[in-house]
Amino acid sequence: MAQWTSAMGSTQLARLLASQQSRPSGTGTRRPPAYRALADGIRLLVLEGRVPVAARLPAERELAVALAVSRTTVAAAYEALRTEGFLESRRGAGSWTAVPAGNPLPARGLEPLPPEALGSMIDLGCAALPAPEPWLTRSVQGALEALPPYAHTHGDYPAGLPALREMLAERYTARGIPTMPEQIMVTTGAMGAIDAICHLFAGRGERIAVESPSYANILQLMREAGARLVPVAMAEGLTGWDMDRWRQVLRDAAPRLAYVVADFHNPTGALADEDKRRQLVDAARSAGTVLVVDETMSELGLDTDLEPPRPVCGFDPAGSTVITVGSASKAFWAGMRIGWVRAAPDVIRSLVAARAYADLGTPVLEQLAVNWLLNTGGWQAAVDLRRDQARENRDALVAAVRRELPDWEFEVPRGGLTLWVRTGGLSGSRLAEVGERVGVRVPSGPRFGVDGAFEGYVRLPFTVGGAVADEAAVRLAAAARLVETGAGAGAEVTHPFVA
Ligand SMILES: Cc1ncc(COP(=O)(O)O)c(C=O)c1O
Repeated sequence: MAQWTSAMGSTQLARLLASQQSRPSGTGTRRPPAYRALADGIRLLVLEGRVPVAARLPAERELAVALAVSRTTVAAAYEALRTEGFLESRRGAGSWTAVPAGNPLPARGLEPLPPEALGSMIDLGCAALPAPEPWLTRSVQGALEALPPYAHTHGDYPAGLPALREMLAERYTARGIPTMPEQIMVTTGAMGAIDAICHLFAGRGERIAVESPSYANILQLMREAGARLVPVAMAEGLTGWDMDRWRQVLRDAAPRLAYVVADFHNPTGALADEDKRRQLVDAARSAGTVLVVDETMSELGLDTDLEPPRPVCGFDPAGSTVITVGSASKAFWAGMRIGWVRAAPDVIRSLVAARAYADLGTPVLEQLAVNWLLNTGGWQAAVDLRRDQARENRDALVAAVRRELPDWEFEVPRGGLTLWVRTGGLSGSRLAEVGERVGVRVPSGPRFGVDGAFEGYVRLPFTVGGAVADEAAVRLAAAARLVETGAGAGAEVTHPFVA
């Protein structure tokens, strides 16, 4: 249950309900009674995360006026939602959205299957590509050549190797954001960076505002750090950030941190334009909130005509509001486990000091490999390979899903590694469950939400292309048929495609 309450005005709720009416319902043609249609509409908004869990709903009379229906209709709809576990009410205090106990909450993150366990399963669980050879091998060779002087030291570099810090700082400077090495700390992936930031800023019970949906493993990391997540619903489509909502949440909840993925957001692929970036920084600054910007996907612009927007930290010249996190995982290879933080020098000093009680540092050899890549141009060559591969995969997956699952809706992102797909009214959790039995592993929407939202979604990564993308869509369509007819429930399904 979300622990911070937002209020949903009657006009806002009426607008969201109206926006659903143009969508195919995926159910039969008989019209349900008005109260049932209203209850279903609100339930879907909660499950899709467009109305947050624990949001206070308007009073019956107010909503009746906004929807031009009778108060009895609203009262009956609220009663139905209460019975189904989607609403909690306290006499005299109002009604709040909820999800029923037993709704599949994302208890764990997304772990890729070990390669040896994959067999004939198509794994769409993990949004990461194989290493862009020959650059991995070359970078490791380069690292071995650079190693001898380090072998004579103790090898402990809690802030990162000076040479790599300098190189990473230079890259920000080249992007128009003057940066000193003292503003950089090398971490164990972006996960290590965000873990350190959460521990420094958001102790038990602190609030962190997050996009809803957001990257599953970071949400879980924050939950485990004891933070209280405050979801901010993404706007429809790939324009992503609804600045009115962000301003309202930052002002009313005054979270300690806000976490955003402004570049090819995971899972929606949305890209924030410069105006939104500026507004986010302004809103965070006014609320006294530290804005953590995850740039893990930022180098994965796939459309060739796309000009990368100015980094979010470019709107915070004093460095008092924004902390930026970067990673080699998507631009190069997740197996490197190299990430970094760019922040004000005093923040870096505190993060480094706290590291003595965490992981002490990041392996020297991998840092040398990344440093070799950045110094030799190998990084850019590898990023170009990555982009070509991801673009090809994206286009193949989009074509295959459109052909096999014409009811499924999505917008084609201009970059990143993920397609966020509305599954034509089918449960994403059921699809994930049945998918595993027909040979395709796919994460369900609720893993990317707070409190069980996004049941009507799955996330598909750009990790397969060609015939495998075609086969993945065929298997997903088979899973969808089984879920639709109820044949996937209970009994074991014989694998139709895999020997
Ligand atoms: C937005 C985002 N942040 C962080 C990560 C994890 O990054 P790393 O492998 O550097 O820990 C991912 C991986 O999918 C991601 O999509």
